Amino acid sequence: MTIDTSLTELDFTPGELVVSPIVADLLFREAHTVSTFHDTDVPDEQIRAAYDLLRWGPTAMNTQPLRLLLVRSPQARANLAVHMSEGNRARVLGAPLTIVAAADTNFHENLDTLVPHLPHARDMFAGDAAGRETMARTSALIQVGYLIVSLRAAGLHAGPMGGMDAAAIDAEFFAENGWKSLLVINVGTPAGPASIRPRAPRLEFAQASSSV
Ligand SMILES: Cc1cc2nc3c(=O)[nH]c(=O)nc-3n(C[C@H](O)[C@H](O)[C@H](O)COP(=O)(O)O)c2cc1C
Repeated sequence: MTIDTSLTELDFTPGELVVSPIVADLLFREAHTVSTFHDTDVPDEQIRAAYDLLRWGPTAMNTQPLRLLLVRSPQARANLAVHMSEGNRARVLGAPLTIVAAADTNFHENLDTLVPHLPHARDMFAGDAAGRETMARTSALIQVGYLIVSLRAAGLHAGPMGGMDAAAIDAEFFAENGWKSLLVINVGTPAGPASIRPRAPRLEFAQASSSV
């Protein structure tokens, strides 16, 4: 399959989106951060569908350092909740599924496969643990953004939380693999209208950009 990236085959009007308003609403405009969730189970298949979408988003050199820990069992949930800031604890305990999104600082072990166009990429990173960590955190955090949007594309809602003791979470869950936790994300369907806050304003383009 070839893809025409010139947009000539799309009905493209400058200043307008090329995706349907329904898609734009679902992914961004009507999508909200959710704090409390219905107790309906979130099957692995739905998370897999979200992952199968997010993995196509770009990462530095195609390193793909994002790793996901799916926290489901009551014991694991309790072990995670104690490392969340106070206001986030009940949210973790009450969600049907919580994902710990993490960066794999040993991403270089996959580079022979992931970066075939740079045969020495793996060796290049092998002796540079500090450089790997910086790169892993940057690209994995970008992938977290793709994850949140992909969860929405899979019909789910997300409640991302950065209020946590990341070092304690790493010690609790990632002592063996060395992953670095970045964000904890509750996932499911909203418990009700009170599960979302009224929309807070967003910056206008002119406030968030400049041209040179
Ligand atoms: C990186 C990040 C960290 C966040 N940390 C927390 C948190 O610790 N606790 C919390 O209740 N919400 C947290 N949030 C949720 C934000 O406050 C929320 O996404 C934002 O206000 C937008 O809300 P809206 O999607 O309903 O418009 C976080 C969101 C992001 C993306």
